[in-house]
Amino acid sequence: MVESTQRGTASSGPTSAHVPRQVSAPSESRTADLVVVGLGHVGLPLARSACAAGLRVRGLDVSDRVASGLGAGRSHVGGVTDAEVTSMLAQDFRAGTDPEVVRDARTVVICVPTGLIADGGPDLAQVEAAAGEVARRLTPGTLVVLESTSYPGTTEQVVKPLLEKGSGLVAGQDFFLAYSPQRIDPGNREWGVENTPKIVSGYTTDCARRAVAFYSPFIRDVVLAKGTREAEMAKLLENTYRYVNIALVDEVALYCRLSGIDVWDVLHCAGTKPFGFGRFAPGPGVGGHCIPVDPRYLATEAERQGYSFRLLDAARQVLDSMPGHVAQRALGVLDDHGIEPEGARVLLLGVTYKPDVADIRETPARAVAAVLAESGVQVSYHDPYVEHFRVGGVTLPRATDLDEALEEADLVVLLQLHTCYDLGALGRRGRPLLDTRGTVVTGRFVTPL
Ligand SMILES: NC(=O)c1ccc[n+]([C@@H]2O[C@H](COP(=O)([O-])OP(=O)(O)OC[C@H]3O[C@@H](n4cnc5c(N)ncnc54)[C@H](O)[C@@H]3O)[C@@H](O)[C@H]2O)c1
Repeated sequence: MVESTQRGTASSGPTSAHVPRQVSAPSESRTADLVVVGLGHVGLPLARSACAAGLRVRGLDVSDRVASGLGAGRSHVGGVTDAEVTSMLAQDFRAGTDPEVVRDARTVVICVPTGLIADGGPDLAQVEAAAGEVARRLTPGTLVVLESTSYPGTTEQVVKPLLEKGSGLVAGQDFFLAYSPQRIDPGNREWGVENTPKIVSGYTTDCARRAVAFYSPFIRDVVLAKGTREAEMAKLLENTYRYVNIALVDEVALYCRLSGIDVWDVLHCAGTKPFGFGRFAPGPGVGGHCIPVDPRYLATEAERQGYSFRLLDAARQVLDSMPGHVAQRALGVLDDHGIEPEGARVLLLGVTYKPDVADIRETPARAVAAVLAESGVQVSYHDPYVEHFRVGGVTLPRATDLDEALEEADLVVLLQLHTCYDLGALGRRGRPLLDTRGTVVTGRFVTPL
């Protein structure tokens, strides 16, 4: 169902100056309703939802390990269980590394990573590689959707030319082209692929219609954007909104500390306002492949056009300073208790960038550990989701017995709120603890961020 449409509605014509003739529907003999390109945190849950809706799904990945693991019923993505992969296989799902599978697809959805190059700019190499592979096997009538996050213009200025050049076909005329950002929140048990409204946009009105028809059977609400650039920008706005607001509360926390104000009480009070205030929490910094990365896409593309996103620069400065701030606070707590940093045993609790998710990409825990280690501290960590945690080329000692590790540590730094941590018990522990999340019941030995 289309929940909302743009001011110029779905029937108002193509979203670019190009006026196509109608694309003919693909033949019914195709063996796959959907080929998902990139079977990671985004692609695999999408494939699962499509399988559950009865679509014949094929998965394509460059990683043989990913494809063969899935073929053997093993999930490599948190939030998708082995049992679910087994059930997908029973529903005729197949994963492989051979791009020839694209020839027989009615729809191809590209879900490959979009990271940063060394200078912090967008790295579209994997999107370009995937688009090139798809292009060489693209047949008339196929719908190609990009779901990877990127800056406005990527679908029409980067992906479209690659698809057209590699296939000899014309977008909007011979095949359908769409952009639909993925909003999945790994570890979120309430909001998943099916019940999170899906923004959908097309290169032309027909492309948009075809994309809406593809997603509607397995996604409850489909929201039609005016064009691909609006959909691309909407995704960047969502993540930039989080980025800027987290930086804002981090800065409020820094100021409150300086002024002797309890920031957690401030947040509690402000958070009771039933309108006009979205509650964000301060912490050791942001991580993952979305929140720290996506605003860079926006800032870099804006810069290229001569526009400076001033707020993003300011937010970045604050966020980048937070791991160092946490480390300095930890050293300060040691000092308050008369413990020299040299040789002090500091235990980090939770090193992933999100609670209850086995993902350490861009985690701020790494920078916290690095600063502490530089000060001579003996850093170890406990995290049920992370077997190995490397910092500056060294693997940190991992504590597996939590009680024993808590007993031995001179200072515990709570970085991540995994549900396995008993916050009340941590608060009652008669030893120093730095609580970067403001959730441990206050105790004599507990220091808030
Ligand atoms: N992880 C999230 O929470 C999340 C949420 C929303 C949007 N996104 C966006 O979705 C996109 C995908 O992210 P992800 O987290 O799923 O990445 P991921 O690293 O978990 O998985 C990507 C997969 O793509 C494969 N791959 C890379 N290049 C390929 C190619 N040319 N052909 C086929 N497979 C290829 C990789 O081997 C990997 O298995 C990114 O743009 C990301 O920003 C991610």
